Amino acid sequence: MNKNWWKESVVYQIYPRSYKDTSGNGLGDIDGIIEKLGHIKSLGVDIIWLCPIYKSPNADNGYDISDYRRISDDFGGDEAFDRLLKAIHNSGLKLIMDLVVNHTSDEHYWFEEAKKSKENKYHNHYIWKKGNPKTPPNNWQSVFGGSAWKWNEKTKEYFLHLYTQKQPDLNWENSEVREEIYSIIDFWLDKGVDGFRMDVISMISKRLAFEDIPDSMPIVELMEKFYSNGPRVHEFIKEMNRKVLSKYDIVTVGEGPGINLENALKYVSEKENELNMVFHFDHLFIDYGPKGKYDPIPIDFIKFKKIFSQWDNLLANNGWNSIFLGNHDFSRIVSRFGNDKDYHFESAKLLVTLLMTMRGTPYIYQGDEIGMVNVAHPSIEFYDDVETLNAWKLAEIEGKDMELFLKLVHKQGRDNARTPIQWDSSKNGGFTKRKPWIPLNKNFKMINVTNQEEDPHSILQYYRKMIAFRKANKTLVYGEYKDLEPNHSKLFIYKRWDEKYMFLVAHNFSDNLQEFSADYVKDYTLSSSNYLSNEKQNFLQPWESRIYFKSKSC
Ligand code: GLC
Repeated sequence: MNKNWWKESVVYQIYPRSYKDTSGNGLGDIDGIIEKLGHIKSLGVDIIWLCPIYKSPNADNGYDISDYRRISDDFGGDEAFDRLLKAIHNSGLKLIMDLVVNHTSDEHYWFEEAKKSKENKYHNHYIWKKGNPKTPPNNWQSVFGGSAWKWNEKTKEYFLHLYTQKQPDLNWENSEVREEIYSIIDFWLDKGVDGFRMDVISMISKRLAFEDIPDSMPIVELMEKFYSNGPRVHEFIKEMNRKVLSKYDIVTVGEGPGINLENALKYVSEKENELNMVFHFDHLFIDYGPKGKYDPIPIDFIKFKKIFSQWDNLLANNGWNSIFLGNHDFSRIVSRFGNDKDYHFESAKLLVTLLMTMRGTPYIYQGDEIGMVNVAHPSIEFYDDVETLNAWKLAEIEGKDMELFLKLVHKQGRDNARTPIQWDSSKNGGFTKRKPWIPLNKNFKMINVTNQEEDPHSILQYYRKMIAFRKANKTLVYGEYKDLEPNHSKLFIYKRWDEKYMFLVAHNFSDNLQEFSADYVKDYTLSSSNYLSNEKQNFLQPWESRIYFKSKSC
C-alpha cells in the first residue's frame, strides 16, 4: 500500500451558499469562508472541498455552470477567490474544487451557440437527436424527474439533459469538448488548487444506442446500466489523467452514481491511472426503494455494515476508499443513521467515531461537526431544491397524499443538509444579517457553534478529539480492517491493526443497552469513548462508541 498525503488527510466539505454571509445578500460567500477558516482549522482537517462557486444561473445551485473560469459575483468574484486560496494555503490547508463537466448550464455560451443551428461551431458540444416535438427519442428520465430530452425548435432536435432542462449534457465523444475541459482543469491547477471532486464523472460517456430502459428497472440499477459506466468512460478519464491530472501533485475524487463493487477498481486501481478515489453510494442508497429516494425502505443495518466491509475488502490492496455518510445531496447524518432526538449528542459522536476509524479518507460535511439535524418546514413553499420541488410536482400529478409526501421531504430532501450553518444564537444563527436565501433550522438557539465551543463535552469538541485521534494513529489510516460481528443487528464491532498496534472499535447503533463480551477486549485498554463514564464494562450504552487499544508487543 503506497502512502500518500491525501490518504492521511481529513476533508471538510463546504456548501458555500449556506456557510456564512458577510456581504449581507443572504447568501454565504467567500469572505464568510475566510472569516471562518479559524473554525475549520480548529477541527484539525487538512483539505477543504468547495461545492461549485463558478458563474451560474443556479438552476441547481451552481451545478449548472455558465463560465468555468469565473467565480460568481454572488460569492465575491475572482478577486475574493484568489484571497481565499492564499488564506487556505497560509493556514496549511489544501483546497479542492468541484469540477462539473458532465453538463454545463444552458446559459453557457457553448450551449447558447449550439442551439442556434446544426452548423454552429458549438453544436456538436452537446448531444442531439432528431425527432418530432411530441415524441422524445427514448424513455430516459431526468434524475430530477420528467423526460431527459428537451425539444429545440430552432434545429428541430432534442438535446439530452440527465439533470434539469437547464443542464444540457456535454458530448464527450467530441475531442474539442475534451480539450476545452482539460484546459479548464489546467487553468485551476495552475492557479494552485489542490485537486477536484468530479461531479457525476461516471456519467460522461453515453451509450450511443440510447435504448429504452425497461419500465420496472429500479433506479439504482438503471444508473449502473444506462446512465453511468458508458463504453468510453475509462478512455476519457485516462486521457484526462494523462493530459492534465498526472502533471500535478493533487487529489481527485470522482462522484460515482452507478459505481459498484464490480466496476470500482477500473476507476481507482493505481495501475489504471484514473482517479484517486470515488464516492460510491451503496450505503447512501441503502434506503432507496425501486423508485429512489422518495420511495424509501427501512435501513438494513446488517447490510450497512456489510457494505463497509465489502468496500474495504475490495480496496484493501489496490485503490483507496472515501469514507462519508452524507453531503449536500442527502439528509443529515445524525437524523438518518443516528437518533437526533433522545440520543442526539451520543449518536452524532458515534458517527464521527465511525468515520475516523475506517480505512479510507474521511469526509465531513459542514454542520455535522455540531450535529445539525434535518429540518421539517410546515409546507413546500419553504423549500428551494430543484430535486425536491420536481418530486413534489410529480407526486401531485400522480395524486399522492401530499401530507405524507411532505413527511418524506422532511426525511429525504436535499434541503435538510442545506440550511445555513448555525454559528450562534443571534438572529439567523449568525449566518446573515439579512434574509437568508433559505430558512434556518429553528433549533439554532440550541444547536450552534458558540454553545458547543463553551461546552467541553459537545459534539464539536468530540469531532476535534476524534480527528486528532485519527491523525495521531496511522494504524487507523492504513491498518487492516475486520468486522467481528457481521450478523449482529445492533452492534458494529471491528478491529483495525498493523504490525505494531491493534484497535478494537465497538459501536452500539441502538437506543438500548447491548451486551458486549469482555473477550473482545482482553488485554486492551480503553482509549476513547463518547460517554463520560463506562461503568458497565460488559454493556454498551445506547449509541455508545468505544475505542480500545493495545500494542502488539505487550
Ligand atoms: C451531483 C451533485 C448534485 C447535483 C448533480 C448534478 O450529484 O452532488 O448536487 O445536483 O450532481 O450536477
